[in-house]
Amino acid sequence: MLRVGVITASDKGSRGEREDLSGPTLAKLVQEIGGEVAEYVVLPDDQTMLEEKMRQWADEVGLDLILTTGGTGFSLRDVTPEATLAVADRLVPGIAEVMRQESLKVTPKAMLSRAVAVLRKRTLIINMPGSPKAVRECFAAIAPALPHGIQILKGEASECATTL
Ligand code: MTE
Repeated sequence: MLRVGVITASDKGSRGEREDLSGPTLAKLVQEIGGEVAEYVVLPDDQTMLEEKMRQWADEVGLDLILTTGGTGFSLRDVTPEATLAVADRLVPGIAEVMRQESLKVTPKAMLSRAVAVLRKRTLIINMPGSPKAVRECFAAIAPALPHGIQILKGEASECATTL
């Protein structure tokens, strides 16, 4: 069972001025691939708070996957990628590349997301843009490879060879 945490980065959401639709959208998508959403939080676009939550969920809770939504654009308040890189042990460029590549087929604005994906110990952390539509598009792009990557991360699989 994939244990997942969802972080919505949104100043307005954290103040209760905007309903968070993207976090619940992500949670539903996670459940559709057999994952369990063990943690969920809406945080302001505050780098320190985002970093602290990612560290806590990776190191203390030991989640397999942390998905963030929001805060990846050009606004000066958008700091989710910076927070994610600050807690990273290793980078996973391919995941962000595929999300942008597939999203560009839908909208040229996809190039405006600075989302990153990283590994911290045995936790995979992936940024996604802030809208429910973007979350659905990005998740669809990476879902086929996620379970295998996380199995390897957890040491539950070592062979990548496939039988055709
Ligand atoms: N990616 C997908 N798949 N679909 C989208 O609609 N919107 C873009 C981009 N990535 C979009 C997308 C837009 S409009 C912006 S500004 C950036 O993500 C950053 O979004 P964020 O600041 O909410 O993280």
